[in-house]
Amino acid sequence: MKTDNTVWHEQQVTKTQRSELKKQKPCLLWYTGLSGSGKSTVANAVDALLFERGCHTYLLDGDNVRHGLNGDLAFSDTDRIENIRRISEVAKLFIDSGTIVSTAFISPFASDRQMAADKLEAGEFIEVFIDTPIEVCEQRDPKGLYKMARAGEIKDFTGISSGYDVPQSPAIHVKTADKSIQACAEQIVEHLIKQGFVYAL
Ligand code: ADX
Repeated sequence: MKTDNTVWHEQQVTKTQRSELKKQKPCLLWYTGLSGSGKSTVANAVDALLFERGCHTYLLDGDNVRHGLNGDLAFSDTDRIENIRRISEVAKLFIDSGTIVSTAFISPFASDRQMAADKLEAGEFIEVFIDTPIEVCEQRDPKGLYKMARAGEIKDFTGISSGYDVPQSPAIHVKTADKSIQACAEQIVEHLIKQGFVYAL
């Protein structure tokens, strides 16, 4: 718990200096979408493309982060809110280090995504909606979770027994059912180049 005696200490090396050293503009690619929509797959493909271009990146993935930092959280609304709060704070630290950071979490609540955006400087938050219809996610069911949720074996399952706020104006809208993973990834990298976060080769 932060007290009045906790004082912010300015760091000598600035975000701008760290970014200049890395020859890029840091940003947060905030992937949101249903379980099985392809967030992690697309985010990994983008990460690989950026890495090939010599960018300094890091990917925070829901399933992985829930094994460690957020291992104490389940899927109630309260826990999901805390999940996203912690992730947005971690992402902010990565941004401060000059890194292009990606987060792949369902992040079902629009208010939490807004909270993450509000922590950053204008333009740094890039909402990426991985828009895959629930029927397609359920058909893919890579982890067998939809089947279990339908059978009532998992409670609070997004899209079935827990809500998902569809992004109203995402910066990048990706329809994975219509094209390849590579094409989805290229769409996102193009956006970063156009917006000047990454330099064209
Ligand atoms: S979030 O809602 O808090 O953003 P997060 O992205 O961290 O979710 O975790 C989602 C992943 O946890 C899913 O991809 C799935 O593998 C797993 N999972 C387990 N239980 C649930 C559930 N009840 N609802 C959604 N995903 C679940």
